[in-house]
Amino acid sequence: MASAIMPAGIRVRQLLERDLGAADRIFRLAFGTFLGVPDPLRFFGDSDYIRTRWRAQPDTAFAAEYAGELAGSNFISRWGSVAFFGPLTVKPELWDRGIGKQLLEPVIDHFRQWGVVHGGLFTFAHSPKHIHLYQKFGFWPRFLTAIMSKPVAENGGPRQAEYYSALGENERAGAMAACRELTDSIFEGLDVAPEIASVASQKLGETVLLYGNSRLAGFAVCHCGPGTEAGSGECYIKFGAVRPGSKASVRLGELLGACEALAAERGLKRLEAGVNLARTGAFQVLAGQGFRTELQGVAMKRPNEPGYDRPGAYVIDDWR
Ligand SMILES: CC(C)(COP(=O)(O)OP(=O)(O)OC[C@H]1O[C@@H](n2cnc3c(N)ncnc32)[C@H](O)[C@@H]1OP(=O)(O)O)[C@@H](O)C(=O)NCCC(=O)NCCS
Repeated sequence: MASAIMPAGIRVRQLLERDLGAADRIFRLAFGTFLGVPDPLRFFGDSDYIRTRWRAQPDTAFAAEYAGELAGSNFISRWGSVAFFGPLTVKPELWDRGIGKQLLEPVIDHFRQWGVVHGGLFTFAHSPKHIHLYQKFGFWPRFLTAIMSKPVAENGGPRQAEYYSALGENERAGAMAACRELTDSIFEGLDVAPEIASVASQKLGETVLLYGNSRLAGFAVCHCGPGTEAGSGECYIKFGAVRPGSKASVRLGELLGACEALAAERGLKRLEAGVNLARTGAFQVLAGQGFRTELQGVAMKRPNEPGYDRPGAYVIDDWR
């Protein structure tokens, strides 16, 4: 991306490796300050979003610079025909000067360029500022998204799944294609291959593959432990989906069981998963397996359409 000098001395450019320390600091400080925690810089503990997202898709990570220093950053995750952005953060002392808006410009440019069919973000439902800012760019609030978790049972249940990390190169290509075919059957063009590849290459966790009748029935991309989006003691299901149809709710239950088995194998104590509440079937499976909501935000969409947030879509993700 070519850098551009914006009004009021703000320059938006690509985020570079050398920016990552400052970007991580601003990320923690901004969220910690907004939420009023006593020691904002310790917010998010030992979990990592900034470095892992940058390594996953560095070309679509953006920096705002002000007076020669990093002022904020933003990231786009592209999942085929679907894309979302975040975390978007700006240094607290520079809030309300238009930097957040400048960091949204490249998002809109890329969504247009890629022909994104279903775009969005996850944000604080209680914040008029957040809803206002994103509405300016054509994103509209729809259903709430619940971030849920449950304690991991000690034995974690039977392991019924295969692990992507255990596959050889050819088998990995086949598994990736099967995952793509499965998500495409839920929403045309949805493709989370970058997440599967990022977890494998950065060793962030595991992609759990569930088979039935000798074809892929479901899969889940999991982050495990410190230095990932999960953090110490946690296994976080960043994306999970099962094949649509009459057996979908049973399959999702099995997939969650396989994720819990993974968490137990790794000695992790909590399993976390997010779901949009418009996916009523998926939410009910999570609730039925003992997941409880820890916090909820709202999904904002551009265009203002459901995408795969519908009752028959047995998908787990939260776009944080
Ligand atoms: C959210 C955040 C990135 C916004 O960055 P920013 O640089 O302050 O945003 P901008 O100055 O570009 O835009 C803020 C807009 O909200 C408006 N605003 C501010 N307070 C508001 C309120 N209480 N109600 C409604 N609108 C409000 C401003 O007027 C401005 O809109 P305008 O252009 O129409 O005047 C920044 O506040 C931040 O880092 N927050 C903490 C982390 C976070 O919440 N990230 C986003 C998670 S989804």
